[in-house]
Amino acid sequence: MQFPEYRPRRLRKNENFRRLIRETRLSVDDLIYPLFVVPGKNVKKQIQSMPGNFQMSIDNIVAEAQKVRELGIPGILLFGIPSRKDELATGAFAKAGIIQQAVLRIKKEVPDILVITDVCLCEYTSHGHCGMIENGMVDNDTTLEVLAETAVSHARAGADMVAPSAMMDGQIAAIREGLDENSFENVPVMAYAAKYASCFYGPFREAAESAPQVGDRKGYQMDPANGDEAMREITLDVAEGADIIMVKPALPYLDIIYRAKQEFDLPLAAYNVSGEFAMIKAAASLGWLDEERAMLESLTAIKRAGADIIITYWAKQLAQMLNK
Ligand code: PBG
Repeated sequence: MQFPEYRPRRLRKNENFRRLIRETRLSVDDLIYPLFVVPGKNVKKQIQSMPGNFQMSIDNIVAEAQKVRELGIPGILLFGIPSRKDELATGAFAKAGIIQQAVLRIKKEVPDILVITDVCLCEYTSHGHCGMIENGMVDNDTTLEVLAETAVSHARAGADMVAPSAMMDGQIAAIREGLDENSFENVPVMAYAAKYASCFYGPFREAAESAPQVGDRKGYQMDPANGDEAMREITLDVAEGADIIMVKPALPYLDIIYRAKQEFDLPLAAYNVSGEFAMIKAAASLGWLDEERAMLESLTAIKRAGADIIITYWAKQLAQMLNK
């Protein structure tokens, strides 16, 4: 069939036709909202490069989790900023660490929202790297033990799911084993499986105060030039026991999301990261883009590419729109 018999414009004539043939629909069900927890009481500090997002103390995080739940968003993803950082990232797995306390309080007061925890060390190490430093290098295998201990401490506090993001080899297996040995065999792992060494994490590092003090993360996060390698990374995480796989960032990596969806039979998450959010916010604040339309188009594209779950700083705003 071709022109003039077939005229695609016939079904674009008005919004009712467009609604009927629309292939991709965003849903509140797809969303996870990231939150940043800091020590103290009644703290709510705007993150400059992420307008509308805040570092919050536990009391405010609990109230926020309640609002997120009321909007119908299924889960939050928690990041913690400890009061002290050290070489050994002890704040990451401390029984009364910032995340452990936050999880406890949220699960007590807002039990029916999924509390997902980021499992990484960069917020907790004085040097800002995602693992233990040995001889000037981020050492893979000593880091695995710390990551497993951290994940178990989150589960013990009541986390519904853990999300390892350190990009150490073997981290999913180590964490799965740690969880199983401690009777958390029913706590799922959402693996940051294909996580790139991306400049788009810039605003997040302000939010999480986690920029590396020396060097960069290219020795463990992936080279943005590689696609086949992402499939190998995901294959490993699936074999190690991941329950959900993730591609991160999202928008510059739609091809990776698409391939992952085609090749793997597991729920797929995409992380619409801080920089993707910040650039649209910045352009919108200058009047150069319409924020709402840019958000909808971006998130729709991420879903169209194959993401089942979208982690986004727009989750609340989008839920408000979808609930209207
Ligand atoms: C921790 C982590 C990062 C992000 C999520 N988990 C930062 C990084 O790897 O440097 C980035 C999230 C975002 O930019 O929104 N390793």
